[in-house]
Amino acid sequence: MKDAAEPRARRAVPARPPGPFRRSFWRSPVRGPWLTSVLGLVLLGGVPVLFVTGLLSYAAYDPGLSPVNDTTTGKGWLGFYLFSWPTHPEWLYRVNQGVHVTLGLVLVPILLAKLWSVLPRLFEWPPLRSPAHALERLSLFLLVGGGVFEFATGIMNIQQWYVFPGSFYSLHFYGAWVFTAALAAHAALKFPAVIRALRDRGLLRELRVGTARTEPEPLDASYLVSPAPAAPTISRRGALAFAGAGSLVLLALSVGQSIGGPLRRTALLAPHGQADDGGPGGFQVNVTMAESGVRAGQTGASWRLALGRTGPAAGNPVILTRAELLAMPQHTARLAINCVEGWSTGDQEWTGVRLRDLARLAGADQPPSVLVESLQRGGAFSRVVLSAGQVSDPDSLLALRVNGTDLSPDHGYPARVIVPASPGVHNTKWVAAMTFGS
Ligand code: HEM
Repeated sequence: MKDAAEPRARRAVPARPPGPFRRSFWRSPVRGPWLTSVLGLVLLGGVPVLFVTGLLSYAAYDPGLSPVNDTTTGKGWLGFYLFSWPTHPEWLYRVNQGVHVTLGLVLVPILLAKLWSVLPRLFEWPPLRSPAHALERLSLFLLVGGGVFEFATGIMNIQQWYVFPGSFYSLHFYGAWVFTAALAAHAALKFPAVIRALRDRGLLRELRVGTARTEPEPLDASYLVSPAPAAPTISRRGALAFAGAGSLVLLALSVGQSIGGPLRRTALLAPHGQADDGGPGGFQVNVTMAESGVRAGQTGASWRLALGRTGPAAGNPVILTRAELLAMPQHTARLAINCVEGWSTGDQEWTGVRLRDLARLAGADQPPSVLVESLQRGGAFSRVVLSAGQVSDPDSLLALRVNGTDLSPDHGYPARVIVPASPGVHNTKWVAAMTFGS
């Protein structure tokens, strides 16, 4: 069948395959620059927030402090913005990750709707008309591929489906730069089309149009407009509401994992469950003791903490038992464990020895950093380096107890680090040694 709407030059291309490669295959009367532009504007509002919170999430690991902390060692000048992560406000990392993960989920229906709205372009024929057209398609490949890659890897990570061909952190970090650069170029190039589409139909005017009065846009407005539109079964307003409702459902089923309290029960999509198991140590963990490979024999009566120092004054480490730690001045701080995956335990009451007191005991007054090592062997975060600000904060603890009882094995018994506003994985569990910098 001939495609009546094809321009003559295009019709001359011999082997146009049937089906989606013919423009008349695409029949939705709502497809066109208006819907694509509105969905694009929503993404333009959300994606930069994802980009900035994502970059901040990387900065929160303090990669500049030590290669031990760096999840993306080959970043080069892409790390130009890094800074020493603060300990206050205490909710900083919780809000950053909550926004990053929740917004990422909420934008999925909008991204899918946007991709649906431009689907005919995927089947453009001929696929490559000229070098310029090839370049344009390459930029769209980076945009769509980058977008799908970022959303997919992010969701796989929070669902703990670690099947990446490399480090999730590096893949997601580089992917973010590619996607954001492609999006910036796309938004700039399409800006005149967005203005035109919104001026022609008006934003609010079109939102008042119901299904019965929904009309296709003029055929010459864009390649996306169907030359053979079917009768409308949904208005543009309805299409936006459908995508928006999907976003609201995802918001309602996920945000509780970051906010906590009674809302935790609503987070049906949370991989760590909705409720605390009850009891003082019943709040979430990422890695259990069994998963970490730490054996009960290592955390019993024979456990010792080694406090060392680097540099010429290093000397022999100070060795402490748990009883000796409990005999030191104890401090209590209400802090949350905030996971890179967006969930938070909510504030818990931790009691233990201040890190700065341990530094003094090791002979290091105001050390520039401390290397904390876990009994756990292997694993990306079994060793971390904390900054001077993190060591000196009065609420930074080597916690021995939580909510009035000894730490449970899964929460890091005999001793774990807890530092305000730091990523959960920097709150090392089953601590074996701390070496203060000079
Ligand atoms: C996740 C982000 C986005 C993806 C994956 C995406 C993808 C696409 C694709 C594949 C096309 C078809 C190719 C073309 O017509 O050039 C397109 C078209 C378009 N996009 Fe986007 N886009 C995104 C964000 C945006 C943003 C932020 C805006 C504007 C602020 C926007 C506005 C437009 C417009 C106006 C068109 C042209 C529609 C037409 O042909 O009439 N897009 N987009």
